Amino acid sequence: MSAIESVLVENRVFPPSEATVQAARISGMPAYEALCREAESDFEGFWARLGRENVQWTKPFTQVLDESKAPFYQWFADGELNASANCLDKHVGTPVENKTAIVFESDDGQVTNVSYKELLARVGQFANALKAQGIRKGDRVIVYMPMGVEGVVAMQACARIGATHSVVFGGFSAKSIHERILDAGAVAIITANYQMRGGKEMGLKVIVDEALAMGGCDSVKSVLVYERTATPCNMVAGRDKTFAEALKGQGTECRPEPVNAEHPLFILYTSGSTGKPKGVQHSTGGYLLWSKLTMDWTFDLRPEDLFWCTADIGWITGHSYVAYGPLAAGATQLIFEGIPTFPHAGRFWEMIAKHKVSIFYTAPTAIRSLIKAAETDAKVHPNNWNLKSLRILGTVGEPINPEAWMWYYRNVGGERCPIVDTFWQTETGGHVITPLPGATPLVPGSCTLPLPGIMAAIVDETGKDIPNGSGGMLVIKRPWPSMIRTIWGDPERFKKSYFPEEMGGRLYLAGDGAVRDAKTGYFRITGRIDDVLNVSGHRLGTMEIESALVSKTDLVAEAAVVGRPDDLTGEAVCAFVVLKRSRPTGEEAKQIANELRNWVAKEIGPIAKPKDIRFGDNLPKTRSGKIMRRLLRSIAKGEQITQDTTTLENPGILDQLAQTN
Ligand code: PRX
Repeated sequence: MSAIESVLVENRVFPPSEATVQAARISGMPAYEALCREAESDFEGFWARLGRENVQWTKPFTQVLDESKAPFYQWFADGELNASANCLDKHVGTPVENKTAIVFESDDGQVTNVSYKELLARVGQFANALKAQGIRKGDRVIVYMPMGVEGVVAMQACARIGATHSVVFGGFSAKSIHERILDAGAVAIITANYQMRGGKEMGLKVIVDEALAMGGCDSVKSVLVYERTATPCNMVAGRDKTFAEALKGQGTECRPEPVNAEHPLFILYTSGSTGKPKGVQHSTGGYLLWSKLTMDWTFDLRPEDLFWCTADIGWITGHSYVAYGPLAAGATQLIFEGIPTFPHAGRFWEMIAKHKVSIFYTAPTAIRSLIKAAETDAKVHPNNWNLKSLRILGTVGEPINPEAWMWYYRNVGGERCPIVDTFWQTETGGHVITPLPGATPLVPGSCTLPLPGIMAAIVDETGKDIPNGSGGMLVIKRPWPSMIRTIWGDPERFKKSYFPEEMGGRLYLAGDGAVRDAKTGYFRITGRIDDVLNVSGHRLGTMEIESALVSKTDLVAEAAVVGRPDDLTGEAVCAFVVLKRSRPTGEEAKQIANELRNWVAKEIGPIAKPKDIRFGDNLPKTRSGKIMRRLLRSIAKGEQITQDTTTLENPGILDQLAQTN
């Protein structure tokens, strides 16, 4: 049975225990429903109340939602604040000041604690170093860093001076960085000499150098290099400085620069349905409100919690639930540099036991791969560790199949911890559809109900509501504070991608298919409806991979990329390729396939490597020349073709492509 089919027949319900309900911030369904009613009856009043209660403003807002330029919505538009002050300075003089902000565990298991007070000093000093480089409010700064305290300090320091950061995941290629530098017009890059992953030292600075050598990067005036390891790296005089050099002589106090609520806190690139990644632009005020508030609501955060989100700062989850949300909420959080399988596949469970983690938030792919590891080696099964400190579990990034959900619930959560299956996106800035641990009865594989104030619905292609029980497109009918503001430098693409005219131009189109349960109204996400794949919770555009393949011009004539279901990674990338030479078979096909995989890794990053590559003399096309992707999807899945193929220019090609190489 496929994952989606098994979700559709799921009927187990796990209500929260009475004790959990009693102790929760949002206590029971009536409390959740009361908040929803408040949002429905006085939408602006609801958000104004939350905005005042959860954010410190240097200049209070008087406007709440400005729809005059819709769909370019503005929130709290005349208010001013600083995001870093809301994460750090706010705690000065409160009990949080001396609390541990970050417990850092390195790849090789060394632990460092940083208090809120120390973090404030480090961010202040780094912010002064950025200013000394001539970086100013509104400038864009690329952050290409390993997981660690320094990455968070870099992001917070940018926020402190009003510079807009754009974090690039450490697994992305030089070409990807280059594209982002140009698109954002970055003035500086913050990076590290190396990163440590799974006991291996991997160069980061060398990739930045390669990106800068690709040309057109004159905007970049400085590169700051964190020396993560003692191994030297290439340094360009006049352009590059180590952190130690940059910080030398800088004081630890730096006044946070007040910015307008709509000031772009960051740009984060993500895949869309064309070849070029989209620079998702987020605001300061609305974004910060939601990342803080969802810490309280979705994770039911308490002062004594130890929160651990395993996401890298290179993804939106690492922005909202590592770099900003936990700090704004005054939490103590664990940050981990390494990978879940080093030195053994019980590392996560070992770390939960060692640090007494109480809230654990990870991706379904990680859970699935750890299930597999535990099934083959009993020594890495979670039951080898004491996980009693856990109180709440969470998942993010892709649908979780009920089997994995049940394993997580039983073996990690001891049938005691609610699992919050949080649905959201880079564009939504924070959770939008998710259970609340002390209220929502859980159903494995369902992200359940929208958060109060999030007007999620399912509609058809004209924007008309679809009754519960039938599938359609997921939309959000009203704006919300942490929503994407625009695509950096491309407002037209923003409108077209997210607020299509065919639906009236005012509904936010998520790009996912979904269905609501006929009885409960619970949402189940059925997957992307556009040309975006979700591989191990990472978003990849099929067009992006196609462009990478055809850019190997000496070899590739044409390529089409589709996804197919995969037990471990959710989806896998499957590429159909026509070469400029004759179609290879056997060993030769394997060898060329490997060459192409490595090429894609170099063009985009290893996460985009196609799992399957099939060669054909041609691709299935209609007589007007359109590639029939739906047929390719069936072939990739290994299904018999039952669709009508009479409109194909070259039906014979299907048999050829169906043969595995
Ligand atoms: O398809 C949905 C899936 O991940 C997409 C968003 O990817 P990204 O912008 O990289 O953000 C990931 C982290 C928030 C969505 O369009 N997705 C995310 N969370 C879930 C999910 N699918 C099902 N269930 C989820 N909980």
